[in-house]
Amino acid sequence: MIKKITHLFLLLGLLSCEKDNSMSTSFNPGKLWLDTDGEHINAHGGGFLFYDNKYYWFGEHKISGKEGNKAMVGVRVYSSKDLYNWKNEGVALQVSNDLNSKLIKGCIIERPKVIYNKKTKKFVMWFHHELKDQGYKAALTGVAVSDNVTGPYNYIDSFRIHPGILPQNFSEDDFHTAEMIENREDQNWKEKVVKGAFFVRDFEGGQMSRDMTLYVDDNEMAYHITASEENQTLLISKLSDDYLSLTNEYIRVLPGERNEAPAIFKKDRKYFMFSSGLTGWKPNPGKLAVSDDMMGDWRFIGNPCRGTEEEKNTTFWSQSTFVIPVEGKKDAFIFAADRWRPENPIDGRYVWLPVKFDNNIPYLDWMDFWDQSFFSKK
Ligand code: GAL
Repeated sequence: MIKKITHLFLLLGLLSCEKDNSMSTSFNPGKLWLDTDGEHINAHGGGFLFYDNKYYWFGEHKISGKEGNKAMVGVRVYSSKDLYNWKNEGVALQVSNDLNSKLIKGCIIERPKVIYNKKTKKFVMWFHHELKDQGYKAALTGVAVSDNVTGPYNYIDSFRIHPGILPQNFSEDDFHTAEMIENREDQNWKEKVVKGAFFVRDFEGGQMSRDMTLYVDDNEMAYHITASEENQTLLISKLSDDYLSLTNEYIRVLPGERNEAPAIFKKDRKYFMFSSGLTGWKPNPGKLAVSDDMMGDWRFIGNPCRGTEEEKNTTFWSQSTFVIPVEGKKDAFIFAADRWRPENPIDGRYVWLPVKFDNNIPYLDWMDFWDQSFFSKK
């Protein structure tokens, strides 16, 4: 009898140990990251929302093999109270089997971002959307809405942006003086891009929208930030009050500077934007820009990464996707990035690093592992 009881205690002890071991208490950039069911988290190109005391992580659900770069499932969502341990909350936005839907299985859905509208009490998701079997040609932004944070999100539509509308920082004169680009060998290619060659080309049909993010300011004004003009120029647009559409107020940002993967945060009334260059799934040197106003003058600071040449040239083998403000902690931000595995996308890894500051300028350096006590030590 005593032996049996001892065994029972041993077993219980083991079980509780196992439970403790499965709780994460640190970030391990680039390593497999298991959810609370023990599966590697499947939410790539992620976006984060803090709502009702929990963080939500929305991202591209990838499958294994090359097909995994297409949307075969949709957007997955996870929840967490502590940013370390994530519970799978299912598919937030499902691809469609309807041949007439733009959201048909096999299209491309990337970089989903969700924001909460306090007035309408709705959750609004925007994402980069490419139509099935058209590669990256369509360059659309898509929008979906839900009454519940975890979904299901109802797909509304996908479209090119601002057809026939001039941005605030591009005049009628600019429009008429822009010169078209005949071919890639054009000697004045960059100059023509800066002066709006692609912008004017796409004016009637609407501007391209690829890598994107959203940002909600303290006054609840929300912005859609996207790589446009063949990824040469970013466009920042104000969203409507219900966040479901773009207003006509928008600007061209860093024209001709080739930014992708924008991720925005605000500190001491300055807006900072991490971004990447254009090398597809391969990593490249990160970039950092700053502005006093979302709709103002953005300027480059430089590469925010410190460390070895390789780390600086590859952004620690990753590409930015979001900056997560840590709730309840002042000036605590997490740089969240993807380490893509295009040959087997489901195995893509996540690189999360604390945003550090030097003279109020953000920078990043590598940490094999770290935890949120980092933010108390400053
Ligand atoms: C990257 C982009 C990803 C994906 C990829 C496709 O540059 O950031 O979101 O679109 O290109 O090659």
